[in-house]
Amino acid sequence: MKFKNMADMPIGIFDSGVGGLTVLKEIHARLPAESTIYLGDTARVPYGIRSAETVIKYSLENGAFLVEKGIKLLIIACNTASAVSLNIIRNAFKIPVLGVIEPGAKAAVLATKNGRVGVIGTEATIQSGAYGRTIRDIDKHIVVVERSCPLFVPLVEEGWLDNEVVELAARRYLAEMRLSNIDTLVLGCTHYPLLKKVIKKVMGDDVVLIDSAIEKAKNVTKILTSSGLLNTPETPTFRKYYVTDCPERFQQIGKRFMVDSLEDITKIGVSSLEEKAIEFKNAQCAGGLI
Ligand code: DGL
Repeated sequence: MKFKNMADMPIGIFDSGVGGLTVLKEIHARLPAESTIYLGDTARVPYGIRSAETVIKYSLENGAFLVEKGIKLLIIACNTASAVSLNIIRNAFKIPVLGVIEPGAKAAVLATKNGRVGVIGTEATIQSGAYGRTIRDIDKHIVVVERSCPLFVPLVEEGWLDNEVVELAARRYLAEMRLSNIDTLVLGCTHYPLLKKVIKKVMGDDVVLIDSAIEKAKNVTKILTSSGLLNTPETPTFRKYYVTDCPERFQQIGKRFMVDSLEDITKIGVSSLEEKAIEFKNAQCAGGLI
């Protein structure tokens, strides 16, 4: 695709699967005139139980695929991929790359009154310690309590957002968190915003929930506005989706993530992502640009 200038290019966004649609939905709500290309790596989801090495490899492949499409900004919607690969991806590509950790961490620092913040996420996100590090980099006095909640992702994908099974899981996972006197809790996973109601019920009304998807969308709006990269009104807007497996399932589960339309979905093979990353590496070695 050819664009007259950088502002007219789409925003590229990737996630391990459908979860990143929570971030995309917030971006569409704030920036309806922006074109977006979303890549959901549905063949290799979940990332949250994988090693950092594997997640970095997948993230580089996803990034190379989107950069090759011609995008002005790359957003890593997946908390796990942001936690373990953001700096590597930033160094690999010449366009701005944004993750979800920093905006969520900043919002938590602003929200806490007693200096005690909880973070929940996938095993890989929590193991990386990325949220804790980022929060303490902003304010070293803040105490951060972290906990992985692995069952939350499959429960959301099953459509169980507000029943006794989810509540039981939330009560088990968050039992220690409730005793730790936090006043702010970061929902550090793409799927968790869909469980806000149950998490609120378990944690109580006094604990502020930080939705990393909303914080990310606010951050993207700020960056595009301040850098003069908002889409010009005469450029038509499009929304394109790529998945690495099961487009029908993506469409069906994606509706749960409340994106208005999930129409233009194309399946691409994982092997084509791998090839794209190799081409990208070769171009870099030859001193070329993608
Ligand atoms: N998108 C992932 C995240 O935000 C959750 C799903 C997965 O484990 O891949 O961490």
